[in-house]
Amino acid sequence: MRILLTGAAGFIGFHVSRALLEKGYGVIGVDNLNPYYDPKLKEARLSILREYDNFNFVKLDLADFDPLFQLSQKEEVEVICNLAAQAGVRYSLVDPFSYGRSNLMGFLNILEVARRLNIKNLVYASSSSVYGKNSTLPYSVDQRVDNPVSIYAATKRSNELMAYSYHHLYGIPCIGLRYFTVYGPWGRPDMALFLFVDAMLKKRPIKVFNYGKMRRDFTYIDDIVQGTVAAIERPMGYEIFNLGNSNSVNLMDFIKIIEEELGMEAEKEFLPLQPGDVVETKADIGRSKDLLGFEPRVDLRTGIRRFLAWYRSYFNV
Ligand SMILES: NC(=O)c1ccc[n+]([C@@H]2O[C@H](COP(=O)([O-])OP(=O)(O)OC[C@H]3O[C@@H](n4cnc5c(N)ncnc54)[C@H](O)[C@@H]3O)[C@@H](O)[C@H]2O)c1
Repeated sequence: MRILLTGAAGFIGFHVSRALLEKGYGVIGVDNLNPYYDPKLKEARLSILREYDNFNFVKLDLADFDPLFQLSQKEEVEVICNLAAQAGVRYSLVDPFSYGRSNLMGFLNILEVARRLNIKNLVYASSSSVYGKNSTLPYSVDQRVDNPVSIYAATKRSNELMAYSYHHLYGIPCIGLRYFTVYGPWGRPDMALFLFVDAMLKKRPIKVFNYGKMRRDFTYIDDIVQGTVAAIERPMGYEIFNLGNSNSVNLMDFIKIIEEELGMEAEKEFLPLQPGDVVETKADIGRSKDLLGFEPRVDLRTGIRRFLAWYRSYFNV
């Protein structure tokens, strides 16, 4: 199977690419290596992927249709896994245009490639943020999701709707994966675990939003990879799945585990809820278990330990 994997230099894209390469699939990775966070981290991930003979990387922007289409045609792509996006809820209040370009225009281009090349399966990243103002927990894929509270969430929900129309019109099998707060080695520098560890080791205060009254369904990267690879291998019409740990953890308990594992107390700066943020997330994963065999295995403390081990070796601390 020849798979076009977008966002290959990103956190999740890197791990999914590596798993696919280990399984012997041909992976054509693309990424624009944008500077939303330090591109050196993206390059470091890529240098690991480049060690595989079945990996090919091309730097390009999803928003430019012609190079994307020509590459996919030349490489005889059969399956697409679209993980490239402008990620991050908070930054979508700062630069909404980058979300329109990568997540809307970029995704439309992906759909057009899928249509023109008769792609056998399109798997794409959605997000738990689509649940927005919904207050019934756990979040189930059967709930209506019409109240996104950030433009990031709105673009992710739009992807699900755009995929639906392409599935309806052209019969392209599409699977959307709503990821819930993914963490682990090689993680994103703009997310809580990375930010907290970084600040604590540099003796700076950590920012605790909504005065600590938040809950998140933290999901370890290896579990996300398992669910994503299963979706890639199982085309099934039009589907949306939650990929979450299904265990909502209090932000203050999360910080406590980091403090215990680092053996130091964090200096905390308590702040109000950030616009665009939701207070709690928790995934109902019944359908993902049934149809993808999705079974989260890594508990939070183990996952945080693995992140810390990676962080120490990567930054030499
Ligand atoms: N990490 C999470 O907790 C989480 C949660 C929900 C959804 N998601 C989604 O999962 C996907 C992967 O997220 P991640 O955490 O790995 O983020 P990431 O930022 O590490 O990876 C995304 C990659 O896409 C690339 N990219 C962005 N715009 C592009 C464009 N126009 N053309 C080509 N490449 C482009 C970036 O350079 C980056 O390497 C994203 O779609 C994100 O929205 C992530």
